[in-house]
Amino acid sequence: MAAGATMYDSLQGGIQPSMASGQPESNRGSFVEDLWSSVCSPQALHAQVLQNLHDAVIVTDQAGRIKLWNRGAEAIYGYSADEAVGQHIGLVYLPEDVPLRESLIIEPLLAKGEHELEFRARHRSGARLVVNLSLSLLRDDSGNPIGIIGVSTDITARRRLDEQLQRHQAELAHVARLATLGEMATGLAHELNQPLAAIVNYTGGCAARLRSGTWSPDELLAAIEEAGRQAERAGEILRRVRNFVRKDQPRRTPLSVNEAVAEALRFVAGETRDRAVRVSMRPAEPPPWTVADHIQIEQVLLNLIRNGFEAMESVAAARRELAVEVRTGDRTVEVAVNDTGVGLPPGPSEQVFTAFYTTKPQGLGMGLSISRSIIEAHGGRLWAVPRPEGGTSFRFVLPAFVRNSDDPD
Ligand SMILES: Nc1ncnc2c1ncn2[C@@H]1O[C@H](COP(=O)(O)OP(=O)(O)O)[C@@H](O)[C@H]1O
Ligand SMILES: [Mg+2]
Repeated sequence: MAAGATMYDSLQGGIQPSMASGQPESNRGSFVEDLWSSVCSPQALHAQVLQNLHDAVIVTDQAGRIKLWNRGAEAIYGYSADEAVGQHIGLVYLPEDVPLRESLIIEPLLAKGEHELEFRARHRSGARLVVNLSLSLLRDDSGNPIGIIGVSTDITARRRLDEQLQRHQAELAHVARLATLGEMATGLAHELNQPLAAIVNYTGGCAARLRSGTWSPDELLAAIEEAGRQAERAGEILRRVRNFVRKDQPRRTPLSVNEAVAEALRFVAGETRDRAVRVSMRPAEPPPWTVADHIQIEQVLLNLIRNGFEAMESVAAARRELAVEVRTGDRTVEVAVNDTGVGLPPGPSEQVFTAFYTTKPQGLGMGLSISRSIIEAHGGRLWAVPRPEGGTSFRFVLPAFVRNSDDPD
């Protein structure tokens, strides 16, 4: 084909060279139309297009019997048209999904006239498939539904890749959580020690009073109640640790961002005291929500908060301030973790997000790279900006989730 020539030109030229050039446009147009109608009737044309689609096009009658099965369907489901036509469409369902056909497919389709869904299906070999299924009603001349046209695209490979990526990300996040907890162990042991020491004091005091015989019930009761409260506090610390190391399937549910920040700050309460850092939090009002894996978001917050602490180690105690702010943006929730530390290391600010990049003798350099991958997996962004007054602000945004006021908590 000559440069600039279209397929129509060469088609035309090949068949009737004398008409290829020098003809008025209107004549050429009608020639092409004549050619088309002589070669393909509209019906034949439709049939060819249908056959050559990569998507599976399947038509079933009202009873679910297959009436049409194109080449795309042969390729995706493994049955030839000869084998499939006349069979029930349940042929390509997973056996356990057959009873769901009414509620999953027929009802929404009758209600809306068309329906799109992701559907699990079965290849002739028995292999599981995931398909994107677009359904519409086939109607007779008077508009009554007489069957279903289904177009399916095979998205099995894409889904498998998504799942694999999610699993890897979750595993990596879990390993990093264990590492973080390792770093926090001393602080946590210290924090746990306080309620335990208090319990020893209160119960020891009770025993001494009882032994001496000079006790009032009120006094004993108050001491026992206080010991109980301290035991709850210790249990709370352990619960936090247990949740944090749990290896769950990533699970996304509505999360109050204010609450997530408050919980992360409670987690580092002991460390905050030990490091003599002043911590403040400014929640957003009304409380914004997102949909997220709670443990993973807490993990990000802990990474950022602890990085802030570490950046302030060499700063005079009076100047150590960590301020966490939650803000509501345009369909987003933004969190800023601001410190008054030494500032970002020289070089592009992006380098700190590289895996294994660390400027700390004992550092692992995984915190920020994991945090970024968690935030991005949630459809958000994480970045760092130097603060004009010194120190650094680490910020992330997540998509906001608008809750109905009657949703349960
Ligand atoms: N708040 C901060 N202020 C200054 N530098 C920071 C801050 N947070 C992180 N960095 C820099 O980014 C590097 C990577 O951080 P991170 O991925 O959490 O790994 P690690 O904390 O193990 O070094 C740190 O070593 C430090 O140089
Ligand atoms: Mg870190």
